[in-house]
Order: sequence, then structure tokens, then C-alpha cells
Amino acid sequence: MDYSIADVKLAKAGQDRIDWAFETMDVLKKLRERYTKDRPLAGTTVFACLHMTTETANLILNLKAAGARMVAAASNPLSTQDDVCAALVKHHRIPVYAKCGVSKRAFYKSMETGLAYHPHLVLDDGGDVVSILTRQAPAKNPNVIGATEETTTGVVRLNAIARQGKLRFPVVAVNESKTKHIFDNPFGVGQSALDGITRATNRLYAGSVFVVCGYGWCGRGLAARAAGMGARVIVTEVNPLKAMEAVMNGYQVMPIAKAAAVGDIFCSVTGDINVIHEKAIRLMKDGAILSQAGHFNVEVEIPALEKLKKSKRTVRKGVTRYVMRDGRRLNLLAEGRLVNLVCAEGHPASVMDLSFANQCLGAEYLVKNQGTLEPRVHVLPEQVDFEIARLKLQAMGVEFDELTEEQRAYLQSWEYGT
Ligand SMILES: NC(=O)c1ccc[n+]([C@@H]2O[C@H](COP(=O)([O-])OP(=O)(O)OC[C@H]3O[C@@H](n4cnc5c(N)ncnc54)[C@H](O)[C@@H]3O)[C@@H](O)[C@H]2O)c1
Repeated sequence: MDYSIADVKLAKAGQDRIDWAFETMDVLKKLRERYTKDRPLAGTTVFACLHMTTETANLILNLKAAGARMVAAASNPLSTQDDVCAALVKHHRIPVYAKCGVSKRAFYKSMETGLAYHPHLVLDDGGDVVSILTRQAPAKNPNVIGATEETTTGVVRLNAIARQGKLRFPVVAVNESKTKHIFDNPFGVGQSALDGITRATNRLYAGSVFVVCGYGWCGRGLAARAAGMGARVIVTEVNPLKAMEAVMNGYQVMPIAKAAAVGDIFCSVTGDINVIHEKAIRLMKDGAILSQAGHFNVEVEIPALEKLKKSKRTVRKGVTRYVMRDGRRLNLLAEGRLVNLVCAEGHPASVMDLSFANQCLGAEYLVKNQGTLEPRVHVLPEQVDFEIARLKLQAMGVEFDELTEEQRAYLQSWEYGT
């Protein structure tokens, strides 16, 4: 079997961590039971290009249990957990092409290698693989029947491809399922981004000024958790409704050019470019901490840091200190990549359970409806969301009410009044 990973000897540690994560992935467990019996993906080759974490390993094992032939690569050059890749190769015979810290060239080469398996399905995170397929002649990868997309930035890119009429196959936007973005983005990023900043810096949040750029699904989770740790939270936004929502939730809102001068810790979660830009960087206090948890490493204007620096060096694992020409020290975390996946382990398994249940059901949906779905961005039916939420609540031991017949009729009628 061909593969390219850091060190296969890490397999035991990786397997222990994969098992630990699975303990709280209740929906995936239920699906795995069914998949082992029914094998709905038999005969399908699936290329998973995702952050190579313990949770992703469990998703891959679910799809393997469903009968798929799996191949995997990383969706980020720095988020790969090498022990997890080793376990997938050694204990599960899955060809994996991922190593933490690879060059940009090697990173894209791994995607080409995954595609050389001629997959029927692609699980994408950020849209890189679908972008490659869009640029390729269709004959180069004729088997593809569809793809799934994990994150907000990927959905933005897919919509851009679709607008140009260039999408060749249906894509299920997993991110758009309610059981994904309402839980993974705020609760997952909220906890894991703080976890990453904590592990990298070990700084105290209480009493500090924490600047959250972007008050979307991820930003609102991060702001709430930073405030919960005692930070004074400032939000920056470009959307007036989101800015208003942040104000109503009790945060200070101001432009980044003002927040720059007062913030101690910055974390950008917008999916946008140069949010923490040169002008802001010039105003920051000595010792400021800069990070981002959006998909690509473009939210902090790193070229500006490079331009304005006198020197730089790694002062702690995950912390690059830029000494500016005016003497200020600015600390960039995770080389400007997703701080939660590079400096910590990504989201807790319990919340990835919901996202990856959508990935499983998205893959099944594409196979079941092969040939009938238009080549556009699809969202899974609401019933799938309800089923995932129901299974998760059941596993959590939470009971809830059902509508009575009378209530159902009332909610569908117009005749009743006061
Ligand atoms: N780190 C992770 O594990 C993880 C998990 C989920 C999503 N993401 C990524 O996080 C990013 C945000 O996702 P989301 O679901 O919150 O998106 P979202 O669209 O809900 O929110 C983004 C917000 O950023 C705001 N924004 C855009 N440009 C801005 C600017 N220049 N200054 C201030 N605000 C700006 C937008 O108005 C919007 O409110 C995406 O790149 C997504 O792919 C990362």
C-alpha cells in the first residue's frame, strides 16, 4: 500500500487518541452500526481531504465501514496530527498523504495524489480539491459523482464556481446544515480557538482586552467564551446587522484601526483577507498577540509584519515573535494559520460528531441520488438535521416534547383568533 506520512511508529498513540474521541461521537457510533450491516457506499472510492485529526479518523472509519475504499490527505499543511495518520495507515490500511509542516508544494501534491485514486466522492474542506477538479479536464477524473464541503470559506468558493457555471457535479454544503454551523462554528471554534491561544501563550484572559474580528457563527462563539474567561471583548465587523447584534450582546464594537491600539489578544474569524492589516499592525501595543481561526492564513496581513520587522524568531511552540523596527514585539500564533488546529487539537469530538454525521449522510445522499442531482450547491434536507439532533439528544439523555395533534392543527390554521 502506498502512503506518505511522518512516522508509522506513532500508530499506537494515534489509535488511543482516535478511540478516546470516538467515546463522545455518539451519532457516528449509531451510523457505524448501520453502515457495518448495510454497506451503503460499497464500490465507492472516497477521497477525504480534511484536517487530519482524531475526529476525521473516525469519520474515515465510518465511511470505510460503509464499504467505501478510502484515501486521505490533509486540508491544511500545519493541522495534521501525525500519530492519527500513522494509526490510519498501520491499523486500518488506509493510504494517507499528510505530514504536519509540509511545504506548500508538497501540500498541493498530496491532493493530486489523492485524486489519482480516481474517487467517486470528494470530502473537501475549504474548496481546494474541487478547485483543482474545476481547473482539470473532466476526462482526467471521470468518476467523480459529487463532493461535500465542510466549511464556510469552501461554500463561498463553491458558490463562486457555480456562479460562473463551472461546477461539474453536485456538492453538498455540509456547513449549511443547521446541525453543523449552529454548533460546530460557535461552540467548536469558541472553545478550541481559546484552547489554541492558551496552549501557545499561557496568558490570562481575565482583565485582558480580547479583540474578535468578525461576529459571524464562529466569532459570536469566540466572543462569548473570551468574555466568560473574564476578558473585556471588543468586536470588529463590516456587516451592520452583525455589528448591532454584538452591541446588543454587550460587546464594544469599533473599527479595527481603533481596536488595534487597545487590544492585548486578537483573533480574526471572518474568512476575509487582511482583516488585521498593516495600518492596524502599526498601531498595536508592545506584546500584542495576533491569531486567526478562519480557513486560510490571510486574515492577518503577514507580509506587513515581514515588511515592518527588524527580526523574528520562535519564542515558544506556535509563537513567532516579530520585533518591529520601532522596538515593539508582536506575537503571531500558528504562523497565521488556524490557531485552534495548529496550537491545539481542533474542536472537541462531541461537536465534530454533529458535523461529521452530516458528512456521512451527505456522502450517502450523493450516492443514493447519483444521476438525479443537478451540478450545484445542495443542502441536506431538514429531516436529516432533525434526525442528527434527535440522535445526539438521545445520547445525551435529554428528553423533549412533541407537538400534540391539537397543537399541530393550530399551528397550521388561520381561523383561530383571540
Ligand atoms: N477554525 C475552525 O475550525 C473553523 C470552523 C468553522 C469555520 N471556520 C472558518 O471561519 C471563518 C468564519 O466562518 P463563519 O461561519 O463564522 O462565517 P460567517 O460568514 O458566519 O461570519 C464571518 C463574519 O465576518 C465578517 N467580516 C467579513 N469581513 C470582515 C472584516 N474585514 N472585518 C470584520 N468582520 C468581517 C462578516 O460580516 C461575517 O459576519 C471561515 O473562514 C470558515 O471557513 C473555521
